[in-house]
Amino acid sequence: MKLIIDTDPGVDDAMALLMALASPELEILGLTTVFGNATTETTTANALTILEAAGRADIPVAVGATKPIASNYLGPVPQVHGANGLGGMTPTTPATSPIDEPAADFIHRTVTANPGQVTIVALGPLTNLAVAFDHYPDVCELVRQVVVMGGNALVPGNATPTAEANINNDPEAADLVFGAGWPVTMVGLDVTHQINLTGDAIDRITAPDTAPAGLLRSALPAYRSFFEQTNHIDGIYLHDPATIAYLLQPDAFTTQAWPLRVETESFSRGKTWPNLGDTDEAAPAAWQHRPLIDVCTGVNATQVAAAVEDRLTRT
Ligand code: BDR
Ligand code: CA
Repeated sequence: MKLIIDTDPGVDDAMALLMALASPELEILGLTTVFGNATTETTTANALTILEAAGRADIPVAVGATKPIASNYLGPVPQVHGANGLGGMTPTTPATSPIDEPAADFIHRTVTANPGQVTIVALGPLTNLAVAFDHYPDVCELVRQVVVMGGNALVPGNATPTAEANINNDPEAADLVFGAGWPVTMVGLDVTHQINLTGDAIDRITAPDTAPAGLLRSALPAYRSFFEQTNHIDGIYLHDPATIAYLLQPDAFTTQAWPLRVETESFSRGKTWPNLGDTDEAAPAAWQHRPLIDVCTGVNATQVAAAVEDRLTRT
């Protein structure tokens, strides 16, 4: 399966990327970077650093948006992902550089060269996808599918009481992406807050004397502490890695097809709202004539956690 991964590394982005890089079923055609967990400058440096650790500096990295399409960047979250976005204090210093092509152009060029074959995995705010769709509307017919880590259909948020962090970082872009018409699967908090990678599993993943395990060994302690303090769990919830697990083992997930809108006003800004009714005609106007999104609502959490551990101990 051919992939473009749009990402804001990010500790759990790093886990998802290393998991995908360790999966022979997946062919990563490129990474595109976006602001979110840290600035785009930092997430780009981190993306390059992760590829270098995995020995895959041959994979191109295209730099994307530095701010949302219609609002201001809310800012980095060092309390979750560390000052450098990868759990630490010192900025990562990659030896390699991004390509000289903006993310949206890279996405369009790559899907045009591989019509109907490329899955876009979005692990950050949906700004780059919205820009790609805005500049090149035909991108919708050219991609195979879009798999989004983001949103919360039937559960509370994590960035705010109502909103999940990636969607909250650019609600206008998310509303555009969920309305564009490409096939979208949403892997949101409805399932990721059910999947706990335990402290014991983290210890096993970070034990090997390899560069990828070393990267996770320095990145994961601060991230793990965040979940201990915030969610009172021993371990971490698996957000971004769940998208890769979905690609590898879709049978571990159940989905429901709903039209989605994203709240862009007031205190529930960033909330993904599905219409649970079953006919377009009966839907309130805001949900009419919107494409159906496959929203993950159920997950075999044990199976997904095992898949993540399996892939991350292969690196
Ligand atoms: C999402 O927000 C970011 O903090 C994570 O990397 C993940 O993509 C979880 O809500
Ligand atoms: Ca992310």
